[in-house]
Amino acid sequence: MSRLDGRTALVTGAAGGIGEAICRRLVDEGAWVAVADIDEMKGVRLARALGKSALFVKLDVTQDDQWRAAVETVTSQFGGLDILVNTAGIMIPSTIEDATLDNWRKLMAVNAESAFLGCKHAVEIMKTRGADQPVAAIINFTSSLAVNFTPQHAAYSATKAAVRALTKSVALHCAQAGYRIRVNAVQPGAIATDMLRKNIRPGQSDDDYFSQLVKRHPIGRIGTPKEIADAVVFLASDEASFMTGADLAVDGGNTA
Ligand SMILES: NC(=O)c1ccc[n+]([C@@H]2O[C@H](COP(=O)([O-])OP(=O)(O)OC[C@H]3O[C@@H](n4cnc5c(N)ncnc54)[C@H](O)[C@@H]3O)[C@@H](O)[C@H]2O)c1
Repeated sequence: MSRLDGRTALVTGAAGGIGEAICRRLVDEGAWVAVADIDEMKGVRLARALGKSALFVKLDVTQDDQWRAAVETVTSQFGGLDILVNTAGIMIPSTIEDATLDNWRKLMAVNAESAFLGCKHAVEIMKTRGADQPVAAIINFTSSLAVNFTPQHAAYSATKAAVRALTKSVALHCAQAGYRIRVNAVQPGAIATDMLRKNIRPGQSDDDYFSQLVKRHPIGRIGTPKEIADAVVFLASDEASFMTGADLAVDGGNTA
């Protein structure tokens, strides 16, 4: 018996570096997975590769009506929703002087409003579960940049701090209301995906960028998408049954 046998999951940002690793690990653990992303080509390709345990759902996480449709598709196709992983995110590095209001709004919409909408739609469905069903899990994505700051991430850090606060408030609400829903966040350090490369400054070499980054991670390297996916599987599983409202740092000591 696997840790998530027969459970149903919706993963946003599923076509990205970390999202794909999460979908693969959830399927390995026996879950049915809705691969949700705005990028249809990559999402469909991943869902096909995962086989009968997966389906692709096109979802722009900033759109309330698309969330409603996605949750309806998942519940009708899979018979319920046990796990929501709000992975979708974007990075637009900029100091307060370089940042524009448009970029701030875009980051807030994709990184923070998305988690708000996801939590809202998931709680609505998950709160009715009976004692014979597993406790549901919502997993949001923050970042070490929500608690460790740099001049270059003014807006990005603010979005991730918002998700951190949202996670704790939703967790408290669900616990106090007696809902069988745990709500936690994963707080990754630097993970080798396309997103990370967006931080390389004009004129900066890859070697210089990555060696600076490694120095900020006491463990002596950056992380892999699978290491984040392993933490998501743990938070989704009954092994994390006493965890809610936590932000789990998976960051090689970056925020220690
Ligand atoms: N990579 C890192 O070092 C790192 C560190 C800390 C936190 N994070 C967080 O982890 C999460 C995943 O990051 P990643 O490194 O896999 O990034 P990524 O760029 O590889 O993937 C992001 C995915 O989100 C999707 N996406 C973007 N906008 C969307 C929208 N409006 N609707 C639906 N999907 C959308 C993209 O199509 C892409 O598939 C993000 O929330 C990110 O902020 C990443």
